[in-house]
Amino acid sequence: MTRKISLSGIKPTGTLHLGNYLGMIRPALELVKEYRAIYFIADAHALNQLRDAARLESLTYEIAAHLLALGLDPDEVVFFRQSDVPEIFELTVILAASTSKGLLNRAHAYKAAVDANLAAGRDMDAGVNAGLYTYPVLMAADILLYGSHVVPVGQDQRQHVEMAADIAQTFNHAYGEVLVVPEALIRPEVALVPGTDGRKMSKSYANVIPIFAPARQLRKQIMGILTDSRPPEQPKDPAACNLFALYQHFAAPDQAEAMRQRYLAGGFGYGEVKAELFEALEARFGAARERYENYMADRLFLEKTLLRGADRARAIGGPLLERVRAACGLRYYTARG
Ligand code: TRP
Repeated sequence: MTRKISLSGIKPTGTLHLGNYLGMIRPALELVKEYRAIYFIADAHALNQLRDAARLESLTYEIAAHLLALGLDPDEVVFFRQSDVPEIFELTVILAASTSKGLLNRAHAYKAAVDANLAAGRDMDAGVNAGLYTYPVLMAADILLYGSHVVPVGQDQRQHVEMAADIAQTFNHAYGEVLVVPEALIRPEVALVPGTDGRKMSKSYANVIPIFAPARQLRKQIMGILTDSRPPEQPKDPAACNLFALYQHFAAPDQAEAMRQRYLAGGFGYGEVKAELFEALEARFGAARERYENYMADRLFLEKTLLRGADRARAIGGPLLERVRAACGLRYYTARG
């Protein structure tokens, strides 16, 4: 029996943090056993935000090195860089014809930009480039090109996956069942990973803890995590503490339970919890951080790995694109030439 396909992408716009790890990277890596996994670095999506070629290139390598260090096996997973697969861009143009403008108007990221403009008394589309507006179409092409069944993502990407499903249905309605309608796979229990200030961990809040922060930086960031001001002797509520929420994600289950009991009993300070969180993160990521440094020092290896992945992605996506072309009346390969 052929396995179903799990596909996901990471946009190289910043350093990967613990929220990315719990929300997307770990679930995606766990699916590798059950699904045929296709994971990629969405560098063309990042173009909408970055205007710096060298930075885009180095962030792309960083993401590649992160995933390899965290256990992605490039022989098992089809792992590539989006811009090495031109079929994605061709499919984007075709899908745009099956995408209503109204659908794109409702995209959260676009709406947020419009709302911010209106609140500031500017033109609604000030500073909004067409790439941001059509972002969901490119993402739909990413997903639909391989017949992906599930898309493991964080909660913030749910709408994009639903839009991809919507676009696939519109296409199929017109041309027959060519595209697989995908589904988002979101882990409810990690839907919210708090950052150092207690809000959702997010680059835009500047409250992130990088996965591979050097030990000294990691310690400093953990020490800076906001807590309430209860004195050590008082009992504390683990459910209301973002420090505990983070600890719980990274400690072994029995350690987390022991810590929960200590919270309820009181008689310790948050400083102790911070020290234990540091230990738990070191235990979890220390060895992987070394692998990460080694990969980062070997760009040629990263490059070769990504290019090999792109060849495999094109071998899967190419035939599907031909079926799409044929279905909608564009010339397709066997009729060309
Ligand atoms: N939009 C996703 C993000 O910002 C990245 C992404 C691009 C993606 N293409 C995708 C995720 C396809 C899943 C599937 O996180």
